[in-house]
Amino acid sequence: MSTLFPKWTNAIPQVLGAGLVFGLIAVTAGAWYWMTPAYLEVGYQPTQPIAFSHQTHAGLLGMDCRYCHTNVEDSRHANIPTTTTCMNCHTVADNLGGYLAKAVSIDGSSSSAHWDSPDLQLLRQLHAEGKPVPWRRVHKLPDYVAFPHAAHVNAGVSCYSCHKRIDQMPIVYQAESLGMGWCLECHRAPENHLVDTNDVSVTNLRDVQALLNDSSYSATMGEQLKSHLQRNPPQTCGACHY
Ligand code: HEC
Ligand code: HEC
Ligand code: HEC
Ligand code: HEC
Ligand code: HEC
Repeated sequence: MSTLFPKWTNAIPQVLGAGLVFGLIAVTAGAWYWMTPAYLEVGYQPTQPIAFSHQTHAGLLGMDCRYCHTNVEDSRHANIPTTTTCMNCHTVADNLGGYLAKAVSIDGSSSSAHWDSPDLQLLRQLHAEGKPVPWRRVHKLPDYVAFPHAAHVNAGVSCYSCHKRIDQMPIVYQAESLGMGWCLECHRAPENHLVDTNDVSVTNLRDVQALLNDSSYSATMGEQLKSHLQRNPPQTCGACHY
């Protein structure tokens, strides 16, 4: 016997066992890493085909989010504007009007300074060809989650609460995790995130940020707004998962 099974072979089961455990951990970690989509990560910031800046348009020029994202109050999905919306201002006939004057007074640039910009040339070319800009999507929930945009915006949850200071982003990135825990955290205590819809919920993210960071606010105004919610934010599985 002793010649058939030398003493060191006693360790084989342990080694195999340990190997199996490590193997499983490696496979799980690998799957976790590779199967977790990048877009569910905070900070995800894909490079866009045209350097469209929210800092310029929503921040400096003070454009209302709804000028471009026209659906946010009526639809489950927030829309990305077509090139036609951009052409309200960026046509060859230079339609910038008051907005250009505003931009010039802010950063001292002239109309010709941005006129021959390669980004705007590409924009006009795509528009002329009737093609959409191939924007890369930043925020994306898994298909098994139902997220109704309009219900939130109409309840007084500002773009700020979920997308943070888009008006300060030269390139959009994902500022919140969008995970289930994140949804539920707000659904359990929405008073910390509610603002008056007539006031500041859509247009001025700086004011919203100031309000929501004021601790006396949620104790008074937030509670009041909460009592006016049509429904309470749901916590049952079926509300978010079909
Ligand atoms: C002049 C038009 C315009 C205005 C005004 C505008 N946006 Fe956008 N927005 C776009 C375009 C075009 C994109 C797609 C390109 C990109 O991601 O930068 C976009 C993308 C986004 C995205 C990311 C979408 C994704 O792929 O997940 C969010 C969030 C967003 N906008 C929020 C806002 C908010 C909040 C405001 C107001 C503070 C606003 N936008 C104002 C045109 C606009
Ligand atoms: C209400 C008018 C208006 C609309 C609508 C608008 N823009 Fe602009 N855009 C401006 C102004 C004003 C500037 C700043 C010009 C400057 O910096 O001198 C600008 C700047 C830009 C620039 C930077 C150009 C450069 O200097 O390189 C890009 C790119 C751009 N816009 C893309 C877009 C896209 C894409 C859309 C549609 C989703 C859009 N814009 C819609 C007014 C507008
Ligand atoms: C309660 C949180 C919440 C609020 C409030 C909110 N969003 Fe979103 N937004 C999201 C989530 C989550 C997604 C990803 C949705 C998906 O993948 O189905 C998203 C996606 C988007 C997109 C990309 C849509 C697409 O199909 O590419 C845009 C644009 C956008 N939001 C704009 C806005 C604007 C503008 C406002 C304010 C008027 C706003 N959002 C308010 C959570 C929110
Ligand atoms: C910052 C706060 C906040 C976050 C974050 C948030 N919600 Fe909500 N949600 C609300 C509020 C407030 C309501 C109640 C709306 C009402 O009373 O009409 C609501 C309502 C809903 C409803 C019911 C809508 C209806 O028509 O009755 C669904 C579904 C929902 N949320 C899904 C989600 C999902 C999925 C996420 C995460 C991706 C999420 N919410 C993140 C605040 C939030
Ligand atoms: C307020 C909306 C909301 C409610 C309520 C909700 N979920 Fe989710 N759930 C989400 C979102 C958003 C995701 C996707 C993001 C993520 O994986 O965290 C998700 C993901 C999941 C996943 C996949 C997790 C993973 O890591 O892949 C499971 C399983 C799940 N939910 C089960 C449930 C069950 C069971 C309930 C009821 C107890 C429930 N959910 C209630 C929003 C919700």
